[in-house]
Amino acid sequence: MTSRLISSSRTAIFGLVAALGITSAAFASPIEDRQANMKAVGKAMGALAAIAKKEAPFDAAVVNTNATTLANNVKESKAHFPEGSETGDKETWAKAEIWQNKADFEAKADKSVEAAMQMAAVTEEANFGAALGALGATCKACHQDYRRPKQ
Ligand code: HEC
Repeated sequence: MTSRLISSSRTAIFGLVAALGITSAAFASPIEDRQANMKAVGKAMGALAAIAKKEAPFDAAVVNTNATTLANNVKESKAHFPEGSETGDKETWAKAEIWQNKADFEAKADKSVEAAMQMAAVTEEANFGAALGALGATCKACHQDYRRPKQ
């Protein structure tokens, strides 16, 4: 009920925004956006992990698609931590330290994008495991400092 009320008032706001010719992106929720972003990152990582666990065959095209999706989403995620989004309309697991160390946070995102691009270039199964290990370490490095664990 509450969420229906919220979504209908959001619809009204978006209608007004559209009428005024303002882009709706400025009014979207950054918390929702970055969580959707990270969900896509997690999904792509899951597809890569399935290969590592031999639940799926090594396929360079699948590796490339998922690693590229992952790189694009991590790159984009940097735009979804604007000042003032430490808290908001949705629960967030982002730590306040992000906004105190923005340069380090963004450097960690860049490292992850770099590792994902290296993964996208893997064409031989023999190089897959090392690339996945390197990529996984970049997720951990950021989450360790900047994300509260979900419990
Ligand atoms: C530069 C920092 C950073 C990097 C790099 C990073 N993450 Fe995240 N991730 C976060 C933050 C911060 C959150 C919490 C966002 C929130 O709750 O608002 C998060 C949340 C998530 C979530 C939960 C999304 C949800 O709400 O359901 C998943 C899954 C995830 N990350 C996967 C990954 C994977 C896999 C990688 C590596 C390929 C990765 N992340 C790399 C910062 C990062």
